[in-house]
Amino acid sequence: MSELVRVPVVRPRRLRRTTAVRRLVAETEVVARQLVLPLFVKEGITEPVPVPSLPGVVQHTLESLRKAAHDALAAGVGGLMLFAVPAVRDPGGTAATDPDGILNRAVRDVVAEVGQDGVVMADLCLDEFTDHGHCGVLGPDGEVDNDATLGRYADMALALAEAGCGVVGPSGMMDGQVAAIRAALDRGGHQGVAILAYAAKYASAFYGPFRDAVDSQLDGDRRAYQMDPPNAVEAVREIELDLAEGADIVMVKPAMSYLDIVRRASELATVPVAAYQVSGEYAMVEAAAARGWIDRDAAIVESLTSIRRAGARLVLTYWATEAAERLL
Ligand code: PBG
Repeated sequence: MSELVRVPVVRPRRLRRTTAVRRLVAETEVVARQLVLPLFVKEGITEPVPVPSLPGVVQHTLESLRKAAHDALAAGVGGLMLFAVPAVRDPGGTAATDPDGILNRAVRDVVAEVGQDGVVMADLCLDEFTDHGHCGVLGPDGEVDNDATLGRYADMALALAEAGCGVVGPSGMMDGQVAAIRAALDRGGHQGVAILAYAAKYASAFYGPFRDAVDSQLDGDRRAYQMDPPNAVEAVREIELDLAEGADIVMVKPAMSYLDIVRRASELATVPVAAYQVSGEYAMVEAAAARGWIDRDAAIVESLTSIRRAGARLVLTYWATEAAERLL
């Protein structure tokens, strides 16, 4: 060896030599109890319908939904987030507040299946229920009317709570939505129902496959209410507002392209921080793996680990059951 090469004294590689040592010193762990599985249920179908852009994900019948919920919790998954596709949509999203609407029925059925342990969550938003596909009701000018939407969210929160939902997840990015929902729940005697606020939710291209999963009617985009991807300081503001309004958990969404926001949220918030590994993140890994371009299992675990490492306590992921059963 040339005498110009100095022999290193400090050798970080020592702690990387074997699987056992790496396991001993790993800083971050993905654990099943912190994963939340999003589930889709569709009204009026008799068999589960696969979602082509989300291989492995289906639109459930009420019956197959119960089984999927049971299997997830049996595998150790910590929570479930329900989304529903109603048979009929209208401008106000009536089906969202109908006690016999598909989402409220699904909550009731899943709670009957898995018990009232507070881990059955529901997405609280109107986009699945409106015929125009926006997250709120439209004003005369054709724009989403923030304050009129708050009343609808309050009613939806009550319907979900009455169906037995333990955690509601407002995802519409209306100003004041957490306060409006908290007030409605409290007035309705549902002080125990928690709010998982989609606090920093970006107008993202990575929601593409989700819109297939809910047969989205949206023509256009949500940039007038969801956050603009260049902004990080604004995410801090959104998180602070949601905390002040009474959020019990704050969420950042999507996850992988917004890990800096997850980090900031985890340093700022004194409540648990969640991150949503969204449909497009899932689809990218599945599509690349299907072509043999990426090691699927390793990519799944690495992506979940990165989200946890950035500071998220909870991770919403379509891989929750499989990860809990087989990968962690
Ligand atoms: C709105 C909602 C969306 C997602 C979760 N809640 C869609 C949107 O904002 O357009 C996306 C989730 C995903 O892409 O996996 N109800």
